[in-house]
Amino acid sequence: MTKSDEKLAISGGSAVRSKPFPPRRLFGAEEKAAAVEVFDESIATGEAFGYGGKREQAYEKEFAEHLGGGLAKAVNSGTSAVLAAIAALELEPGSEVVCPPITDPGGIMPIVMMNCIPVLADTNESSFNAGPEQVAAAITERTRAIVVAPILGEPLDMEPIMKLAREKGLPVVEDAAQAHGAVYHSRPVGTHGDIAAFSTMFGKHYASGGQGGIFFTRNEDLFWKARRFMDRGKPFGTDEPNNVRLGLNLNTDELSAAIGSVQLKKLPWIVERRQAVAAAVAEGIKSLQSVTLGKIVPDAQSSYWFMRLTVDTDKLTVDKDAFAEAVGAEGIPSSASYRHIPAEHVWFRRQNTFGSSGYPWTTPAGPVELPNCEAVAARNFLIHLHENWTDQEIADTVAALAKVEKAFLKS
Ligand SMILES: Cc1ncc(COP(=O)(O)O)c(C=O)c1O
Repeated sequence: MTKSDEKLAISGGSAVRSKPFPPRRLFGAEEKAAAVEVFDESIATGEAFGYGGKREQAYEKEFAEHLGGGLAKAVNSGTSAVLAAIAALELEPGSEVVCPPITDPGGIMPIVMMNCIPVLADTNESSFNAGPEQVAAAITERTRAIVVAPILGEPLDMEPIMKLAREKGLPVVEDAAQAHGAVYHSRPVGTHGDIAAFSTMFGKHYASGGQGGIFFTRNEDLFWKARRFMDRGKPFGTDEPNNVRLGLNLNTDELSAAIGSVQLKKLPWIVERRQAVAAAVAEGIKSLQSVTLGKIVPDAQSSYWFMRLTVDTDKLTVDKDAFAEAVGAEGIPSSASYRHIPAEHVWFRRQNTFGSSGYPWTTPAGPVELPNCEAVAARNFLIHLHENWTDQEIADTVAALAKVEKAFLKS
């Protein structure tokens, strides 16, 4: 029920929603059955399950097919998938890599781990993602690759980015950790660049267990390069007698793959539901004056890892943080910000990398100017939607937004 005439909960009034929102219930009987089957088989044969087995191979094939064909390799985290992607590019130490301005540390630390220097491109003017102009502005003569990240499931404008990258001869990694099921120009996110990395940890659209990730490419050469790095340099795809390069053990295992396979089948429904929830909230708030669903690039569909709302603070008596906190106090799961800005992180600013060397950086960190990023961070906040929201959660969210706007709208 809308209680827009009542005192805000943050000021001691009663909240629009007092009952907790429903849990996601991501894992159920099917995941349990798949895991039990792995153990049953192990017990029956007397052999421990391992990695690289039939379930892992099946899961990777299914994943590649869901992206329209290509080569996929499951790994133990999204960070590992990004690391493998950077490693596959075999960049010289000290190479610059253009990076997202807002991203999880797991999307940027692998670049430094591979001895390359991350150069942050600013966001575009209306989202947490870099636009083509900002990517172009971050390219120097030392740039050797571009990493883009469709943050919150919102696609980037990949066509001009890929055109630019091709002109400059730069490979592009799509860090699609947050963007399973998102679409740009009728093709899935993750199929526009040269390599894609996905996270399948428990908080993502679908999960292969508590942690997980998956690497995807249509380029066979890059696939084998990544494969070798992911498994201690084993000579996959070569005639060499033994381990051919420096690498790590980023392998997943049969248990995770069994869960991942079951979960992947649910992904289309999960994305569809999230899109329907976001569309219903957008419809419900269309008469509001200060808050709208975050704008995404044309001819694209977000898969809504989170729902981003943009607040026009010029119309309000409070800033975005106060607005978002008031919405949260009304019982709506939300975050006032998604401030994963690498330039603000201690490790990045102090260049805490290898010993006290600051390597691969060769000059101390200066101030990083990201004016658009500052502006979008000041105007956007997140609602924690998920696929199991019902009409009640949608209605309560709309009611809370209306109530908070009414309280804070300038007269
Ligand atoms: C954009 C991005 N890249 C990489 C990662 C790292 O993935 P993981 O947590 O599975 O290692 C995340 C995790 O949220 C992410 O959001």
